[in-house]
Amino acid sequence: MSLLDDLAAVGRAPGGGYARHVFDRADTELREWFREQAGRRGLDVETDRNGNLWAWWGEPGPDALVTGSHLDSVPGGGAFDGPLGVVSALEAVSRLPARPARPFAVVVFAEEEGGRFGVPCLGSRLLTGALDPDRARALRDPDGVTLAEAAARAGVDPARLGRDDEALGRIGTFVELHVEQGRALDVPVGVGSTVLEHGRWRFSFTGQGNHAGTTILADRRDPMLPAAEVVLAARRLASTVDGRATVGRLVPRPGGTNVIASTVDLWLDARGRSREVVAELTDAARAAAAAEGCTVTVTEESYGGTVTFDPALCDRLTGLLGAPELPTGAGHDAAILAAHTATAMLYVRNPTGISHAPEEFAEDADVEAGVVALTRVLEDLST
Ligand code: GLV
Ligand code: MN
Ligand code: MN
Ligand code: MN
Repeated sequence: MSLLDDLAAVGRAPGGGYARHVFDRADTELREWFREQAGRRGLDVETDRNGNLWAWWGEPGPDALVTGSHLDSVPGGGAFDGPLGVVSALEAVSRLPARPARPFAVVVFAEEEGGRFGVPCLGSRLLTGALDPDRARALRDPDGVTLAEAAARAGVDPARLGRDDEALGRIGTFVELHVEQGRALDVPVGVGSTVLEHGRWRFSFTGQGNHAGTTILADRRDPMLPAAEVVLAARRLASTVDGRATVGRLVPRPGGTNVIASTVDLWLDARGRSREVVAELTDAARAAAAAEGCTVTVTEESYGGTVTFDPALCDRLTGLLGAPELPTGAGHDAAILAAHTATAMLYVRNPTGISHAPEEFAEDADVEAGVVALTRVLEDLST
């Protein structure tokens, strides 16, 4: 808890919660903190080609046992999503009776939330080759800064972004501890089974900017109307497939109360049969746009299929801990790594069921139970 307290003041968002985004000031401070904490435990920290941090206990090597998570947040995020896994990993290092016989590292992945550049699990997708580096370099944050520019300023060479077989090839087993993000866990600790298929899509509507007072209704080409239709249809369609659909961000331009917008961009997060939902939603968006004299383009910004964590590893963990298995609708770097290496997750109970918000919470006793569980798991996997 004192490690989490260290971070409490870093990257506070003016509207509440945290704003910690890759290569910004808060992120830089968090990375410094991690280096310092890893150093105190005798670990050597290196930054890989994609801006992920690796703290090695002894020499880096093949078939490594790796644990960790991320330190970035969503806009207005809570204190636990990400940092809990990093803090628990550091604390587990302090508690392990001996250095594991296998190579061992604590990892901090860059930009898990996609809060700045829009693509979640940016660091792990680049590492594994799931994201094309040319596309990544050109990603822009809301201020128009490209990932290439932000990386260069942070000392990460943008020309070297991309699949990193050396770093990837070392990981033999990856275990990520994370706060549970819904109400699926009623005991202190659980083991992850699956991650829901999910993706992000941008819907860009174009109409005609105009005067809110003089433009009669029949003359309007207001892109906000088809955008509103998409918000409502997304909920309707997701409910028909028992999926999830969210429009958490919608930007009308130029954005004046007395101005009919000329464009509206909205971002859809859809999970569970999401491509089916988006195909239908695209048809609905086109029809609604045409009815208003507007146009729409739909772009898939990220996508990942359903992930099942390594069954043998999960069985080993549930047996060792006597803990239940549970699925999640939340995305994780572990889900990206699962296609490449034996991967498992531990979840710590979240009594509020709230996450990606300042109210996200875990009880001290459950955090302790999570650290105890992670330490046992690492010890069990250490040879
Ligand atoms: C990450 O936490 C996500 O599921 O969006
Ligand atoms: Mn998250
Ligand atoms: Mn997370
Ligand atoms: Mn006027």
